[in-house]
Amino acid sequence: MNASASVSDQLDQLVARAASEFAGAATPADLENAKARYLGKSGQLTDLMKGLAQLPVEEKKVRGAAINTAKQAIEAALAARRQALQDADLERQLRAEALDVTLPGRQRDAGGLHPIALAWERVEQVFASMGFDVADGPEIESDWFNFTALNNPPNHPARSMQDTFYVDLEDENGLPYCLRTHTSPMQIRYATAHARRHAAALARGEVSEIRVIAPGRTYRVDNDATHSPMFHQVEGLWLGENVSFKDLKATYLGFCKAFFETDDLILRFRPSYFPFTEPSAEIDIQFQSGPLAGKWLEVSGSGQVHPQVVRNMGLDPERFIGFAFGSGIDRLAMLRYGISDLRLFFEGDVRFLSQFA
Ligand code: PHE
Repeated sequence: MNASASVSDQLDQLVARAASEFAGAATPADLENAKARYLGKSGQLTDLMKGLAQLPVEEKKVRGAAINTAKQAIEAALAARRQALQDADLERQLRAEALDVTLPGRQRDAGGLHPIALAWERVEQVFASMGFDVADGPEIESDWFNFTALNNPPNHPARSMQDTFYVDLEDENGLPYCLRTHTSPMQIRYATAHARRHAAALARGEVSEIRVIAPGRTYRVDNDATHSPMFHQVEGLWLGENVSFKDLKATYLGFCKAFFETDDLILRFRPSYFPFTEPSAEIDIQFQSGPLAGKWLEVSGSGQVHPQVVRNMGLDPERFIGFAFGSGIDRLAMLRYGISDLRLFFEGDVRFLSQFA
């Protein structure tokens, strides 16, 4: 065996060892380490190249060419293994993220509005169509708006009709804020906010009216099948130069017919008492057909706005007269949808709620 043959054997073995080490590298990091052992600064092939320097020119040429060939072979093996590892990695990723397009889809049911929200919206629509503005106000209310301005001062016996929750916060009169017991404070808030405009219009001899509803959440210390500590009311207020009880009757009847989508009902105005209206009446409804036919059902308090309340609004009771009502939205929803237990509204049971979606 001559010298050059043995060198070329040596190179062949080197290439074979490198190829087999590359093939055995399981990860890209292993592969880079293996590469360093051959092609790195002090790698085996690099050492051979360094050895060339001492050789005579002729031999240097021959051996240099052979080393180069070996180097190319090693680089090719390296590139092939790199590619193989990359392919395997991609393959693994694809397998991990595989989708079975034949699996049945997961269904998400469409939601819907709560029956109280549906009734609330309906109330707004009907009154808006009758020319009423729709107003909104705070649920945490001061003593003035919830009671005193409504002619129901501290120690008035009528306060006991509306026991509520108090908030640990005092107003400018040293009285505690409460969770509003009714939407009636909105009568004062809305009328006060618009009083100047209406008084000015009246002074110019123009027709000026306040016509508004205010739906919202209200609170009382009450809890049974027909009362919940949180409930919903809609306040109505219509004040003008010549608005009478007759208008209240016509308005409320028109509302009920539109809301319940039937003409087959009658109303009864039953004398009652509220400090902020005089005279006052409970409004009862009776359907003439259907499952509730023949029963009187209470739906609203109402009355002619008390002159002192008109004064508290900043308006002249000699010029502004009219009516107010406060109806239970939950009650209206129960009657419209035939629900007998108020508590169903607040239990969040989808079997109940999905019937309205
Ligand atoms: N605020 C009264 C209640 O909650 C209802 C009502 C409103 C009565 C307006 C008369 C006028 O019971």
